Amino acid sequence: MPIDLSFFETPLQTIELRELPGNGHIIDVGGGGEGLVSRIGGAQVCAVDIDMNKIREAQIHGFSSQWLLADAQTLPLKDASFDTATLWFSLGFIRDWSAKEQVVDEVVRVLKPEGLISILGATIDCLEDRFLLKAQFSFADGTISRMSYGLAGRQNQTIESVTEILRQAGLAVLSAEDNAFWFRIEGRKQ
Ligand SMILES: C[S@@+](CC[C@H](N)C(=O)[O-])C[C@H]1O[C@@H](n2cnc3c(N)ncnc32)[C@H](O)[C@@H]1O
Repeated sequence: MPIDLSFFETPLQTIELRELPGNGHIIDVGGGGEGLVSRIGGAQVCAVDIDMNKIREAQIHGFSSQWLLADAQTLPLKDASFDTATLWFSLGFIRDWSAKEQVVDEVVRVLKPEGLISILGATIDCLEDRFLLKAQFSFADGTISRMSYGLAGRQNQTIESVTEILRQAGLAVLSAEDNAFWFRIEGRKQ
């Protein structure tokens, strides 16, 4: 019997992607799919994804990142080995809050002291079963890429709730930008 799901769909969001800081190693959590961070950071990036198909999808872009098939809740990586961590539209794919917290704790563990974190996230506070973020990304080199992310609704994922788990994990929040249906947070490991 078909299940009748309700949907919330955002208007098209225009999202400017900034350059990544420094020349150091970057861990990109949930780095498959469109592979946004790998397309910017190339060989600097170790892209972790739990889904082999998403890794294959991102590799179509042909960039030189390291690819790691793993659950970011338990990263098979040494402590303090990365200068920067990115979670670009990946926390929304991890619906359960204890799992989101575990991922953030793991990211903090593998970051060097003073390491930076960059989060782009969807604001998912709708009452519908499913949330569809429609986005147009612009890269610093002028490339434009359009996509839609289909996510579980009713997550209460907001800039406030994500900032709170970053603080609990020991990160200082450097900047926070709230937009209609997405947010950007930058932080530093203390
Ligand atoms: C929106 S998609 C890809 C976003 C990606 N940053 C991009 O540039 O398009 C989110 C990704 O997170 C991955 N993911 C979900 N849960 C994960 C987990 N526990 N560990 C690692 N990756 C995970 C999914 O497989 C999916 O490829």
